[in-house]
Amino acid sequence: MGNSSLHWRYAVKQFDATRKIPEDQWNEIEESLVLTPSSFGLQPWKFIVITSPEIKSQLQGASWNQTQPRDCSHMIALAAMKQVTEEYVDSFLQSICSGRGVEMDSLAMYRQVVLGFLKNQEGRHFEWATNQVYIALGQLMSMAASMQIDACPMEGIVRSEYDRILGLEGSNFGTVVGCALGYRHSEDKYALAKKIRFPRQTVIEHRA
Ligand SMILES: Cc1cc2nc3c(=O)[nH]c(=O)nc-3n(C[C@H](O)[C@H](O)[C@H](O)COP(=O)(O)O)c2cc1C
Repeated sequence: MGNSSLHWRYAVKQFDATRKIPEDQWNEIEESLVLTPSSFGLQPWKFIVITSPEIKSQLQGASWNQTQPRDCSHMIALAAMKQVTEEYVDSFLQSICSGRGVEMDSLAMYRQVVLGFLKNQEGRHFEWATNQVYIALGQLMSMAASMQIDACPMEGIVRSEYDRILGLEGSNFGTVVGCALGYRHSEDKYALAKKIRFPRQTVIEHRA
């Protein structure tokens, strides 16, 4: 993927509601979410994909009335884990054992480090998991752009309303951020707006 797709992409304001992302391409997008790296590899997240027109319309109401959730092809709510439990860590370690054919004993030190970290983060698991979720958002947007699929990352949402609409209330996951994906409307004037970024020498310093 060259930088050209990162110049091509922009945060879409108006989607073409008539166009849907083909299933095979959508599968690739989902795979990019699954492949997102995370601290310790713990993957403390859940991604809820919404294609139901009714739910997408409800989400518009929970998104400062922005139209992207309603008009996009696929809407994703990226949710973070609230409490990362010992049982969860063990289920993750178990997946390493079965995936790599190693014994649980060989992971004892790793287990100790992870559990120590989580204990230290007690009460802040959601915040920590939220940071991981933003990595998924970044990877998702880059992947979509590389496939010429449009997106709009969305923080202009009411998280508690998303949780209610998506049935997350009372669960171990809470909505962090949304991402609408699909195709830009030919009349979305933002597609032609010049990209505004601080110059490279302002945001990047070298210590050579
Ligand atoms: C985490 C995040 C949340 C955002 N939330 C919204 C949003 O709710 N609605 C919207 O229209 N754009 C939203 N944006 C888009 C930004 O305004 C946009 O990415 C930024 O102005 C840079 O423009 P570009 O992405 O078109 O290059 C969000 C972007 C990010 C990264």
